[in-house]
Amino acid sequence: MSIMFSRALRTAAAAALLAGAGAPVAADEIFYVSGAVGNAVENFKALVKPWEEATGHTVTMVPMPASTTDQFAQYRLWLAAGTSDIDLFQTDVIWAPQLAEHFVDMTEIAKDVAPLHFPSIIESQTVDGKLVALPIFTDAPALYYRKDLLEKHGVAVPTTWADLTVAAQTIQDAERAEGKADLWGFVWQGNAYEGLTCNALEWVKSFGGGQIVEPDGAISINNPNAVAALETVKGWVGTISPDGVLAYQEEEARGVWQTGNAVFMRNWPYAYGLGNGDDSAVKGLFDVAPLPTGGGDNSSAATLGGWNVAVSKYSDNQEAAISLAMYLASAEAQKQRAINESNLPTIMSLYDDADIAAAQPIIPRWKDVFLQAVPRPSAPTKGNYNEVSAKFWSAVHSTLSGDGTAAENLELLQVELEDLKGSGW
Ligand code: GLC
Repeated sequence: MSIMFSRALRTAAAAALLAGAGAPVAADEIFYVSGAVGNAVENFKALVKPWEEATGHTVTMVPMPASTTDQFAQYRLWLAAGTSDIDLFQTDVIWAPQLAEHFVDMTEIAKDVAPLHFPSIIESQTVDGKLVALPIFTDAPALYYRKDLLEKHGVAVPTTWADLTVAAQTIQDAERAEGKADLWGFVWQGNAYEGLTCNALEWVKSFGGGQIVEPDGAISINNPNAVAALETVKGWVGTISPDGVLAYQEEEARGVWQTGNAVFMRNWPYAYGLGNGDDSAVKGLFDVAPLPTGGGDNSSAATLGGWNVAVSKYSDNQEAAISLAMYLASAEAQKQRAINESNLPTIMSLYDDADIAAAQPIIPRWKDVFLQAVPRPSAPTKGNYNEVSAKFWSAVHSTLSGDGTAAENLELLQVELEDLKGSGW
């Protein structure tokens, strides 16, 4: 371990020394705010320990709700108030344009390490030429499926949503007939929050219905392919997916899946390592595939996710905070996170790392999936992304709840988005 962490720690220790301009470095308590899923809180403690030992500082994680939407609302309040209580924020890939003004520009300090990361990820965290957050992991979802159940029922891994619908229903019916009363065909994230935006973007895009707002700013969501996508999904609620799926976030879906009660699940790679844990009912029984397509010429669509670390401009411990950010973004820390949390690294060379591939085979397999992943329209909608996304997930949630048809709700959404754009996003 000590050898593995040495290079990042030398950098961290050097930064801490520089901060004290040669004087003995005072020990600071650094506050790091982050949402967490799975074993992230526990692992974070282990992850920062070597940095704490090398610098003499201590890190306190301030835990947030798991929903990125709830985190964003709180972060925005804290930052608008200029609070100095939080030194570092763990930020979702979509929030950089909206929060940039509150974060320290890391362009200079990270100039030697930035080229080690995938350029598109560095770009996503660069606002007006300033690198406002350092990437710590990237994300692209998978279709998790039960190998044992597909094999038992002679069902192939579905490559279209239509095939998935039939496969899920067939296996659910057959297993329930054998007494597995709690088994569901497909679980995903249907709660009214950012996660539904991710799921619905995948359905719409993979049906050839565009990406809500296109990279050039054109609002494209009101179209027949998007309508067809949402009507298909509506047909799942109460048949292959429980009604409760409309309240599920990532962890609720994983809960059903990991207790052995789902045939298929849409989730991010963090669920891979946990699903193979000793306490998992599905350990060794599942594999992952790219999400299905809408059929025809359409291709699979995975929403681009991912997390970064940003240093607050209002922090009283900026040097130590920058040192910690550099450490968390380093190859050493990303490797630990990849092995222990099956998070996808943002450092290119780690996709050839034999230890990572052995511990979490999904990681090298998922490089191409995330490289082709679809970004949410946070760049073209600038300061309004949260509002755009909230309007989108609300329209989708209403449709899936039977409150208006997809055609009605998307028509209304188009008008609302045009209004928002008209007032200048
Ligand atoms: C994952 C993704 C993040 C996304 C969130 C939605 O955490 O990494 O980008 O916003 O899921 O729930």
